[in-house]
Amino acid sequence: MLSARRDLVLILDFGSQYTQLIARRIRESGVYCEIHRYDVPLERIRALAPRALILSGGPSSVYGEDAPHVSPDLFTEAGVPILGICYGMQLTAHLLGGRVERGREGEYGPAQVRVALPAGVFSRLGEGEALDVWMSHGDRVVELPPGFSTLGTTDTTPFAAVYNEERKIYGLQFHPEVAHTPRGKELLDAFLFDVVGLSPTWTPASFVDEAVEAIRAKVGPDARAVCGLSGGVDSSVAAVLCQRALGDRVVCIFVDNGLLRKGEAEQVVKMFGDHFHLRLVHVDARKEFLEALAGVTDPEQKRKIIGRVFIEVFEAEAKKIEDARFLVQGTLYPDVIESVSVRGGPSAVIKSHHNVGGLPERMHLGLVEPLRELFKDEVRAVGATMGIPHHVLWRHPFPGPGLAVRCLGAITEERLAVLREADAIFEQEIREAGLYDKIWQSFCVLLPVRTVGVMGDERTYDEVIALRAVESRDGMTADWARIPYEVLGRTSARIINEVRGVNRVAYDVSSKPPATIEWE
Ligand code: XMP
Repeated sequence: MLSARRDLVLILDFGSQYTQLIARRIRESGVYCEIHRYDVPLERIRALAPRALILSGGPSSVYGEDAPHVSPDLFTEAGVPILGICYGMQLTAHLLGGRVERGREGEYGPAQVRVALPAGVFSRLGEGEALDVWMSHGDRVVELPPGFSTLGTTDTTPFAAVYNEERKIYGLQFHPEVAHTPRGKELLDAFLFDVVGLSPTWTPASFVDEAVEAIRAKVGPDARAVCGLSGGVDSSVAAVLCQRALGDRVVCIFVDNGLLRKGEAEQVVKMFGDHFHLRLVHVDARKEFLEALAGVTDPEQKRKIIGRVFIEVFEAEAKKIEDARFLVQGTLYPDVIESVSVRGGPSAVIKSHHNVGGLPERMHLGLVEPLRELFKDEVRAVGATMGIPHHVLWRHPFPGPGLAVRCLGAITEERLAVLREADAIFEQEIREAGLYDKIWQSFCVLLPVRTVGVMGDERTYDEVIALRAVESRDGMTADWARIPYEVLGRTSARIINEVRGVNRVAYDVSSKPPATIEWE
């Protein structure tokens, strides 16, 4: 919707595990880019009018039976600079008359490229300089297409970086987008700014201006929009952005399901109601949720009940808002990228995630998704530009079903209170130790077992709290955080002394996979 008005770099995805990284590096340089499947039709590419094309890496061999290919017309018709990375370079060489050979061993891991010619993507480097790079390829180019020359070589790869100056086509056999190629950003910047001639105009502030205009155009001059505000990063940024565009015509619904962390409901109301002056409907639905969950111990059933009650409560409130014709959702870019799935087919649902899926159709609401084009780090940058404080933007992820999936066994008000107190202590200790921003998530889990203890001269028979803290980049895989023993010791002592009903604390030392981050 917006891309026709801004400079766009188009990344064609051939299934590399690093394609999203290419996009993030380019965005970090202040240039807008989109990822499309390699087989996006040429007409669509023409309509998008990109300023440059990047062909990603991928797991295939150009000679493979099902290898993803593009039409050779792309190289003549695109009329813009092209950068092929790894498989993208091999495909370019193959289609333009060069020769690619099946490597006997491949080349994986660190390597050093010597700069033969400091031009094009190498223009910011010096001749003879050694560049640390990350290689990950089986096949390799053994003969260049006509009109191509070498920019850099390694001991085993004679064509590690190549170009055709006249046609502005570049190829890198290594991966400039990964952290293991420390100067990779300089190469990408040389391509974007020196070769293509782009300027770094994609900034959080420019995004806010464009998004505000787009939201106004979509919602029109009279309609209202409803926004489910959870207090998490995405819904907070989406809500404030919509308020900028629509003022009081966006109504935020905050549902207190009784499964929130200590003081959370008060904080959301204070921050978004009092400070940002959002039009906020605070629904106290604690009773409904607890009643629906009474006696339920099965994790999937808990999630389903919470999802259903949420929709019922939300729908009832939304119906009260006159002229509400749109629903704001905090969908992010990784959810909408049409990528090539390397493994083929959608991955299995491990846990049913709780969201407002189905509501827009049921209520005949249009969708406003102002964050659809953003990666998570960009959402935070946009939030910061609009004055949303650091502690909201960097709060650890919290699951939709809240404490219900951390209160193992039956959920009661008393058990939730125990969990809430313990959790607040752990968070405080993690913050005071300066660890909060370094780890992905930390929280408490209340276990449905009782163990024997002794307090003073008395025997106790109380419940167990498990501490969970993990390091992760995206929540897909995770490792348990190596928290100092002193922090664990202090947390344990405080929980056992300060929270009635707990006489034992354990630390979870499992990684994901095979465990998951949450216990349910
Ligand atoms: P698991 O437990 O599957 O969690 O390793 C991965 C990440 O997802 C979060 N999570 C959820 N987030 N709704 C959410 O919005 C949910 O139902 C849900 N379940 C898990 C979890 O906290 C972790 O960050």
